[in-house]
Amino acid sequence: MGERIILILLLVLSFNFLLLAVAQDVNSDFAVLKSLRGSWLSPTPNWEGSDPCKDWEGIKCKNSRVISISLSDIGLTGHLSGDIGSLSELEILDLSYNRGLTGSLPQEIGNLKKLLKLVLVGCGFTGRIPDEIGFLEQLVFLSLNSNNFVGPIPPSIGNLSNLTWLDLADNQLDGSIPVSSGTTSGLDMLQKTLHFHLGKNRLSGEIPPKLFSSKMTLIHVIFYSNKLVGSIPETLGLVKSLTLVRFENNSLNGYVPQTLSNLTNVTDLLLSNNKLQGALPNLTGMNSLKYLDLSNNSFDKSDFPLWLSNLKNLTTLQMESVDLNGNIPVNLFSLAYLQNVVLNNNNLGGTLDIGTNNRKHLKLVNLKSNSIQDFEQQNDLPENITIILESNPICTETGAMERSYCKKHNILDTEPQNKCPPDSCSRDQILSPKCICGYPITGTLTFRAPSYFEWRDTTSLEKHLLQEFQSHDLPVDSVSLIISDPFHSFVYTIQIFPRGQDRFDRQDKSTISSILGNLSATSPYDFITGNQGPKESTNSSSKVLIIRVAVGGSSVMLVLLVLAGVYAFCQKRRAERAISRSNPFGNWDPNKSNCGTPQLKAARQFSFKEIKKYTNNFSQDNDIGSGGYGKVYRGTLPSGQVVAIKRAQRESKQGGLEFKAEIELLSRVHHKNLVSLVGFCFEREEQMLVYEFVPNGTLKDALTGESGIVLSWSRRLKVALGAARGLAYLHEHADPPIIHRDIKSNNILLNENYTAKVSDFGLSKSILDDEKDYVSTQVKGTMGYLDPDYYTSQKLTEKSDVYSFGVLILELITARKPIERGKYIVKVVRSTIDKTKDLYGLHKIIDPAICSGSTLEGFEKFVDLAMECVEDSGADRPAMSDVVKEIEDMLQSVGMHLTSESVTSTTSSHRYQEVSIVSFHLDQPYSNESFGSSAEHIQKLNLVS
Ligand SMILES: *[C@@H]1O[C@H](CO)[C@@H](O)[C@H](O)[C@H]1NC(C)=O
Ligand SMILES: *[C@@H]1O[C@H](CO)[C@@H](O)[C@H](O)[C@H]1NC(C)=O
Ligand SMILES: *[C@@H]1O[C@H](CO)[C@@H](O)[C@H](O)[C@H]1NC(C)=O
Ligand SMILES: *[C@@H]1O[C@H](CO)[C@@H](O)[C@H](O)[C@H]1NC(C)=O
Ligand SMILES: *[C@@H]1O[C@H](CO)[C@@H](O)[C@H](O)[C@H]1NC(C)=O
Repeated sequence: MGERIILILLLVLSFNFLLLAVAQDVNSDFAVLKSLRGSWLSPTPNWEGSDPCKDWEGIKCKNSRVISISLSDIGLTGHLSGDIGSLSELEILDLSYNRGLTGSLPQEIGNLKKLLKLVLVGCGFTGRIPDEIGFLEQLVFLSLNSNNFVGPIPPSIGNLSNLTWLDLADNQLDGSIPVSSGTTSGLDMLQKTLHFHLGKNRLSGEIPPKLFSSKMTLIHVIFYSNKLVGSIPETLGLVKSLTLVRFENNSLNGYVPQTLSNLTNVTDLLLSNNKLQGALPNLTGMNSLKYLDLSNNSFDKSDFPLWLSNLKNLTTLQMESVDLNGNIPVNLFSLAYLQNVVLNNNNLGGTLDIGTNNRKHLKLVNLKSNSIQDFEQQNDLPENITIILESNPICTETGAMERSYCKKHNILDTEPQNKCPPDSCSRDQILSPKCICGYPITGTLTFRAPSYFEWRDTTSLEKHLLQEFQSHDLPVDSVSLIISDPFHSFVYTIQIFPRGQDRFDRQDKSTISSILGNLSATSPYDFITGNQGPKESTNSSSKVLIIRVAVGGSSVMLVLLVLAGVYAFCQKRRAERAISRSNPFGNWDPNKSNCGTPQLKAARQFSFKEIKKYTNNFSQDNDIGSGGYGKVYRGTLPSGQVVAIKRAQRESKQGGLEFKAEIELLSRVHHKNLVSLVGFCFEREEQMLVYEFVPNGTLKDALTGESGIVLSWSRRLKVALGAARGLAYLHEHADPPIIHRDIKSNNILLNENYTAKVSDFGLSKSILDDEKDYVSTQVKGTMGYLDPDYYTSQKLTEKSDVYSFGVLILELITARKPIERGKYIVKVVRSTIDKTKDLYGLHKIIDPAICSGSTLEGFEKFVDLAMECVEDSGADRPAMSDVVKEIEDMLQSVGMHLTSESVTSTTSSHRYQEVSIVSFHLDQPYSNESFGSSAEHIQKLNLVS
């Protein structure tokens, strides 16, 4: 019996070993990446083909091995598979700002012996940080901040002898800070480390004296917002390289050691909100100090310390509630760089004299709730300096409340961020510092070293960041920093505005996030992006306000308001979810004929089990594309018919009623130029649509050359004709008529004979009798194709589709995106056309791929037709049936037979792009929640072009 167990164990072990051996094989990186992708729900990275080293998104290789994975902020969800450990050559792993990446960090991470950089900032990882992290001997950069890690800091991190950057901040780590002892390792061993960032956790116990020694090279020690107790160890004074020490918001008690005076390079010392005791520390010698915060401690009563006036570089002094007495010496205000003096809630008396020397930098003197009797400059109030003497004897005299320095200081005034024309952006867009509307990437920027940043003077950093982005060739137009919390000069909202387009594409967004995540290591500014990481803004107010001076209680109000807003939003979401859970298909059982579905003549209801079988259990081989809504699988029905099955992922599921409505709509239309619905599945929380399989992919891929299809002139005309016929059918023959609302090259599919098939009725609207002339509705559609008339009036008619179709023709002619580098194709063509010239003088913008071989018979007519379709007013545009006739005439003159043409496909691409099939949602839905509802938007685009 026992032997048998051992035998089995041996078998299992050797099998594992075999697996390991196989995994080490050079060609296995492909399999590992596939497995990683398998553990991510969509959107997944763009990984196609069998060679990861060939243009796979975020992958870098050396000698055919994967050495770097960098997928910052691409919305990954799911977990990190332990298979990652098999990428034995991996040097860089950056998955930062993918909030949906949850679960634990697999212990196999320890197998990545060559890893230099591990950046998982701003993800959703939970569980403990595995001890195996200590095996990453080569690691230089470790950033696990802003996750949900729990448990202790693994002592094994002490083994990472090459580590320069250790960031575990903003998690829920507990226990004490580990130091070495005989057999165990500890952070004191990290002699090359420059940064200890452990703030915002639940670390407890004393700061171990052993942690610091003269052998260390630390520059930043950041332990703020933990539960640390005891005193600040004297040994801290041994680490003379330090520039930043932040221990605020803990429960430290005991005395401040005199040894701090030896830290002559420290610029920022923050010890506020602790229970530190004894005499106020004498910091003479800390001559680099710029930012000093000793507020809210239990120091003994003392006179105003005279040594402060010797800290020549001081910019900010914060000493609230520390029992200061006596007078403030006038020479304090002679300090050349002094900006902020915050000394409220003390017992300072006498006459306040801010002298005459420093009028350049000084901005704020807050002495609220002290015992000041008089103010030397009261009749000669310096401009641009806010003096607060509220609740001092000087302000209790009758009539005193009229004086500005005695008034209650709430948020005094707010002013628009810039001098752009008011209200020039649509509701949800944001105005850049250069007065351009757009969707910036926004996030919170929190400075680790507040002194790097002069209070409210954001321009230098904005410039620096802009240069940083531009040096990476990113289309960044401007960067804007807005103070978020007037009490803390080091929390800012950052907005990064795109150039020449109204939002960043996924790739650029990812790169920008990655730069923000890494900047701290390379730049003189040292900051972290906040909890949420950089985010593309979707719905914030268009008017950004700077809070100029804000002192007093009203910020509490503000916080409450924000919280209330968040609460309301969550409630709404909850309600929506509850509604969508009820099943409108409850009485849709196809087996019960009495309550069947009369509208669903053709569409068939499939069971989950059936679909599972047709797709071979949703196998990787059948995975033919994915997008924001979920995945698309190829399936084969028992009849042999190949179908495309679109499976909605959790987030993109629509309410059951909408789903039903869409199926009903799709089931009604049958036309050779429309993709037809075969059936659907609505079961076990699944929403799937089953379509006919259209093998040659989207028109967009054909135009960009991505699918390897060559579109000659006559083929283009034929594609236009097919799409026009499909649309004409929807407008004029469907009952009731249907407006597509989202005609674009992504939504035109090509079959094996290059017959165009219109797909994606996700936004379609049928016209009911009582709305004959137009349908007034939320503006939806895709930028660049959107009818400006519809956009301004919000009245939807068939002519909106005609407009989009006109743009489509221009795309067929030029193979350009409707909006490319800020230029709008309609405008470009309109301004270039010269009817006196051959081909209307459009040579430069015609897609070079058309001209090969053929003469462009009927070109001018085609352009004329496009321009008629994009007339500003819907009434001036032709009906789709007229368009069909026009194109038929053109084709006849080219000498093509319209009905019996058959072109054989040279390449057959079986890849579906995410948008190639009729969908529940668009790939990039621009409803007016995310897009804006006025025509200004388009005017702005025109301005840029
Ligand atoms: C650490 O860095 C040095 C120099 O960059 C390198 O030679 C060494 O191999 C690295 N790894 C370890 C474990 O020391
Ligand atoms: C203090 O800073 C100066 C200038 O940055 C540097 O040269 C010096 O080495 C630093 N002192 C220590 C002890 O690191
Ligand atoms: C500062 O360091 C020197 C040696 O580097 C030492 O002699 C002195 O005692 C230290 N001062 C304090 C206040 O610890
Ligand atoms: C502070 O320390 C310096 C130097 O260590 C000393 O000269 C000075 O007298 C001290 N000041 C007070 C108020 O203790
Ligand atoms: C004070 O600041 C100036 C200018 O920023 C700098 O050159 C100087 O080294 C600083 N002094 C100390 C003692 O750090």
